[in-house]
Amino acid sequence: MIVGVPKEIKDNEARVGVTPAGVKALSEAGHTVLVETQAGSLSGFPDAEYQNAGAEMVGDAGYVWGKSDMVVKVKEPIESEYTYFREGLVLFTYLHLAPLPNLTNKLLEAKVAGVAYETVRDRFGNLPLLMPMSEVAGRMSVQVGASYLEKERGGLGILLGGVPGVPPAHVAILGGGVVGTNAARIALGFGAKTTLIDVNLNRLRELEDIFGGRLYTLASNSYNIAHVTREADLVIGGVLIPGATAPKLVTRAMVSHMKQGAVIVDVAIDQGGCVETAKPTSHSNPSYKVDGVVHYCVTNMPGAVPHTSTLALTNSTFPYLLRLANLGAREALRHDPGLAEGLNTWEGKLTYRGVAESQQRECTPAASVIA
Ligand SMILES: NC(=O)c1ccc[n+]([C@@H]2O[C@H](COP(=O)([O-])OP(=O)(O)OC[C@H]3O[C@@H](n4cnc5c(N)ncnc54)[C@H](O)[C@@H]3O)[C@@H](O)[C@H]2O)c1
Repeated sequence: MIVGVPKEIKDNEARVGVTPAGVKALSEAGHTVLVETQAGSLSGFPDAEYQNAGAEMVGDAGYVWGKSDMVVKVKEPIESEYTYFREGLVLFTYLHLAPLPNLTNKLLEAKVAGVAYETVRDRFGNLPLLMPMSEVAGRMSVQVGASYLEKERGGLGILLGGVPGVPPAHVAILGGGVVGTNAARIALGFGAKTTLIDVNLNRLRELEDIFGGRLYTLASNSYNIAHVTREADLVIGGVLIPGATAPKLVTRAMVSHMKQGAVIVDVAIDQGGCVETAKPTSHSNPSYKVDGVVHYCVTNMPGAVPHTSTLALTNSTFPYLLRLANLGAREALRHDPGLAEGLNTWEGKLTYRGVAESQQRECTPAASVIA
């Protein structure tokens, strides 16, 4: 198979779909890999590394898209890339089609086989290609929060871990899923007093087993959240109700009772945020203050650490990619029902129920089109 790796052109996107290690494994399996020049440079992978790994470097994005049987990306294509769609092309990337009817139309019209990272499931029912970005964002949330707690950045002027004789900062984490657990790990590692709130008591039991008595756990209700946000120096939002907008657990009134110079990092902002005063920000202008409380609400936090994020993402995507290349899309999808859940478009048919429902279109089950 010819596998194409174009350079990402979406604003502020520095990740790349395949690393030099991936190119080497694909080449060893007998595939040809076309990599657009500079595709990995912002992630710390220069062209020479790709070339040494066996890639053919190509200066023209159109050539990469045009010659490849399968194109591997990170972000959903943007409009200037729609012209490259053609019948039979396999596109393996994050697609997030639900809010993008125009992109959906183009993929269907051109009969592209669109396999979306975000809907692939593993045998436990988890979303293995979303998880690495939540791990990155969760760990990063404490690092970012610690930095905004510095006086110069508008914060309280508190060192997260304190020092002997001076108490540490108090970190409150909403949601004990992937983001929350990773945030807790780093906050505890810094030596901060750390409280985690979740609505799922079994999850709180698991977290207590993982972290022992060092982590304070609390059941999620507005009384506990009001109390903990008043006390906290850093609040991290990591709740998720799958397929829905995030619940506004921290109200405007709660924010107004927080300490002046306290910091909120609302990681859940990509689902609308779990703090009433949170609104989406970008890496070029990441923070603002409401009632003296610093808000950091960047929707693509992993973009700030593209080297780690690319490695984390491709560690998870690559085994699927290799199977798609070795078996061909139809066979690979047939062999793995979890990968087949990633199929969103196939020969002009919309095959993912969630997207079909949100766009009020007909859905053809993936299993029937690849049979
Ligand atoms: N901003 C970014 O760059 C970025 C990056 C990665 C993930 N995210 C987002 O972070 C959010 C969390 O992702 P995740 O992978 O940790 O999800 P997850 O499903 O692993 O965890 C969500 C947790 O929220 C808990 N929860 C649900 N309702 C709650 C409530 N009312 N009170 C307290 N807890 C509640 C659930 O029980 C679960 O433990 C998602 O919206 C995800 O899209 C954002």
